[in-house]
Amino acid sequence: MNLLVTGGCGFIGTNFIRYLLNKSDFTGQIINVDQLTYAGNPENLADIEKKFPGRYAFVQADICDSDKMAEIFDDHDVDTVCHFAAESHVDRSIVSPDDFIKTNIIGTFNLLEISRNRKNRLARFHHISTDEVYGSLGKDGYFIESTPYQPSSPYSASKASSDHLVRAYHTTYNLPVTLSNCSNNYGPYQFPEKLIPLMILNALEEKPLPVYGDGKNIRDWLYVDDHCSAIWKIIQHGKNGETYNVGGDCELENIKLVEMICDAIDSKIGKNPDKWRNGESRKGLIKFVKDRPGHDQRYAIDATKIKTELGWTPKTPVETGIAATINWYMENENWVNRVKSGAYREWMQRQYQSD
Ligand code: NAD
Ligand code: TYD
Repeated sequence: MNLLVTGGCGFIGTNFIRYLLNKSDFTGQIINVDQLTYAGNPENLADIEKKFPGRYAFVQADICDSDKMAEIFDDHDVDTVCHFAAESHVDRSIVSPDDFIKTNIIGTFNLLEISRNRKNRLARFHHISTDEVYGSLGKDGYFIESTPYQPSSPYSASKASSDHLVRAYHTTYNLPVTLSNCSNNYGPYQFPEKLIPLMILNALEEKPLPVYGDGKNIRDWLYVDDHCSAIWKIIQHGKNGETYNVGGDCELENIKLVEMICDAIDSKIGKNPDKWRNGESRKGLIKFVKDRPGHDQRYAIDATKIKTELGWTPKTPVETGIAATINWYMENENWVNRVKSGAYREWMQRQYQSD
């Protein structure tokens, strides 16, 4: 297999490449194409490059650059695509949607066109998407694969658009596509603009923990390694034209999750008796802030299809996943400092007008 991974220097792409080469039965080659936006970090895979010479190659390129992408497909004789590259942060899409339209829609269209032109070489085009395309749930119910699309943010609308294009290329051109729509991921290498790494780093630094609105919005949390194993199963065994929902069976209100992170850090490194009276918990740092516009209330995935058809289940209990994630951020201070000195700092200053 000559597997083209797009966005492999981002959070899930990095974990997927590490998972495939270190933990799975994969024996092929990986070509990682990443533009290295603020969210991409080639150092994530520096050790992989050394450990798997000849099986891993990195090319810096923009998926919207059709000539360059066609050249990469030809140079590496690509037969399988796993497409992660995207602008991925809802809050950024609210502030400036342009890059979301370009990368998520035009970039995906571009990859589909190149794939269509090489259809006889292509065994699989797997598109990574999100449960956010389905919009918001009320108190009851779950997203299934046939739930109608009702995206709320520019991010989710751009992902919905790309999903439709991928399906249309199957229906019209018989391109061998699969899609997965998954819930919120967490784990190592996640850019600390997203809820879990942001809360971990702020709690470790004793900074305020900004919870949007009343903190009662619900997300279904999935440890990133479990997501990676689902993607690999779909690439190997998924049926052409099919969509698989992937979730963690782990619904939590944001406030409960933030409290869980505080408790885990408190018990790992102790409360701080100097800072908060009587050794209060880091929960004292929680600060309710202005809500996100168009904030979806609840996401929850019904993953019956991938469980029954492909035999996949999420394996990581949230307590274990959160503890592993906290450990990773504590043990990778250099990574954290490098990431925080760049675009993160600008973003946080913009969000909270402070450093
Ligand atoms: P991320 O923001 O951490 O990484 C995105 C990567 O794509 C970065 O390395 C970036 O440099 C690269 N990229 C961006 N624009 C590019 C372009 N034009 N050309 C080439 N590379 C480009 O994102 P992530 O959290 O790893 O998400 C990966 C995929 O999974 C996305 O498609 C996202 O929509 C989807 N997804 C993410 C989550 C989640 O919880 N993180 C949940 C569901 C679905
Ligand atoms: P996020 O990690 O941005 O993922 P998504 O918006 O794709 O679900 O946010 C997860 C939830 O946490 C979402 O309900 C918004 C909320 N949130 C906060 O309360 N505070 C924050 O600082 C961030 C980044 C998110």
